[in-house]
Amino acid sequence: MRTGKVMGRDWAEARRADRVRLLAGTLASTLADRETFTFELGSGHGHWLAAYAADRPQEACVGIDLISGRVEKALRKKEKAGLTNVAFLKAEASEFLDALPADARIANTFILYPDPWPKKKHRKNRFVQPESLTALAERSAPDARLHFRTDDEDYHAWTCVAVTGHPRWEILPDEPWPFEQVTFFETRMKARRDVIARLRP
Ligand SMILES: C[S@@+](CC[C@H](N)C(=O)[O-])C[C@H]1O[C@@H](n2cnc3c(N)ncnc32)[C@H](O)[C@@H]1O
Repeated sequence: MRTGKVMGRDWAEARRADRVRLLAGTLASTLADRETFTFELGSGHGHWLAAYAADRPQEACVGIDLISGRVEKALRKKEKAGLTNVAFLKAEASEFLDALPADARIANTFILYPDPWPKKKHRKNRFVQPESLTALAERSAPDARLHFRTDDEDYHAWTCVAVTGHPRWEILPDEPWPFEQVTFFETRMKARRDVIARLRP
C-alpha cells in the first residue's frame, strides 16, 4: 500500500517534471540560435544582469529567480532599457539546468550575494554543493567561468573548499572580476568576497 508520504513525494516529483517541461519550452525559444549564454542564478531585481547585458549586446543572457515580484522588476528594467539580449525567468536553479536545451551551453555563471543560510543545519540549502557544481559543469561550455560573490565570510570559505575539492572546476585566484555593477542586495552589504573558477578542460 502506498503511504501518504510516498504519494506526497510522487506528487512533488510530478509537479517538478511539469515545471521543467514548461521551462524547457520557454528556453528552447529564448536560446534558439544561441550556442552559449551568460547565466545569473538568483538575479533578484535585475540590476546587475540588465547592466551587463546592455554593456555586452552580443551576449545572450538569462537571469533566474524564485520570486515572481523580483523577476517582474527585472523585466521592467529590461523593457525600459530596450534590451533584446536578456531574459529574466521565474525558475529554480536545478530545474533550470534540467530544462536547458541539449545544445545550449553556459559560458559564464554569476552568483551574486546568494542567501547565506548561516545556520549550520541550513547549509544544505546553499546552492554551492558538490552535486550542483557537477550539474553546472555538465551544462557549461569549454573554458566556462563561475563567478561567485558574497559578503558572508563562511559562505565564501565554504565555496572555496567546495570548488577546490571539485574535479571539474579550478579556482583562478588572479582573474579580475569582469564587470562591476552594484546589485540591490549589495547596497546593504559591508563586504565583497569573490571566487572565480574555470571549468577544467
Ligand atoms: C539575497 S538575494 C540576491 C539577489 C541579487 N543577486 C542581488 O545581489 O541583489 C538571493 C536571490 O536568489 C534567489 N534564489 C535563491 N535560491 C534560488 C534558486 N535555487 N533558484 C533561483 N533563485 C534562487 C532568491 O529568490 C533571491 O532573490
